[in-house]
Amino acid sequence: MIVRDAGLADAPVLAALHGAVFPEGPWEVGFWRRALTVGEGPILLAEGPNAPLGLCAVRLAADEAEILTIGVLPAARQGGIGRALLTALYPKLTALGSSQLFLEVSEHNDAAQRLYESEGFHEVGRRQHYYGPNEDALLLAKALSAAA
Ligand SMILES: CC(C)(COP(=O)(O)OP(=O)(O)OC[C@H]1O[C@@H](n2cnc3c(N)ncnc32)[C@H](O)[C@@H]1OP(=O)(O)O)[C@@H](O)C(=O)NCCC(=O)NCCS
Repeated sequence: MIVRDAGLADAPVLAALHGAVFPEGPWEVGFWRRALTVGEGPILLAEGPNAPLGLCAVRLAADEAEILTIGVLPAARQGGIGRALLTALYPKLTALGSSQLFLEVSEHNDAAQRLYESEGFHEVGRRQHYYGPNEDALLLAKALSAAA
C-alpha cells in the first residue's frame, strides 16, 4: 500500500471512493475536480497494488489545517490505512506551514475517535446537533511540529 498526492486525473477515483465510504453524502466528481484545481490543501490517496483504498482531503487556512474528509473502503478497514493517511499528512502540513490540525468527528464514531486519540488529537470543542438531532460533532485538534 502506498499513500500519494492525488492529481486532477484522480477526481473520478476520489468521487467513487468517497461515495463508497460515505454513501449517505457522496462528494461528486465536480467537487473533486474543483478541489484539485483550486488546491486548498493536500488531497491524499491510499492505493493497494490494484485498487484505491482510502482518501483524505485537507483545507489550509493561515497556519491551521482542517481535515475535510478521511475514509477507507469498508473491506480495507482496520489494516492501518487510516493511520497511514494521517502519518503521511503531518510532514506535508508542517512543510506547508501548518501548526495545528483540526477535524470534526461524530460523538458516535468510536473507530475514528480511537484512531485520532492514538494519533494525539484532543477535544477542543463540541458542535451540538451537527450531524443530526442526537449527534454532536467533537472538534479535535493536534499540534503539529517539524518533528511530527
Ligand atoms: C475511521 C477510519 C478512517 C479508520 O481507518 P482504518 O484504516 O480502519 O484505521 P486503522 O486500521 O489505521 O486503525 C488505526 C486505529 O484506529 C482504531 N480503530 C480503527 N477501526 C476501529 C474499530 N472498528 N474499532 C475500534 N478501533 C478502531 C484503532 O485504535 C486502530 O489502532 P490499532 O490498529 O493499533 O488497534 C475508517 O474506519 C473509516 O473510513 N470509517 C468510515 C469513515 C469515517 O468515519 N471517517 C472519519 C470521519 S471523522
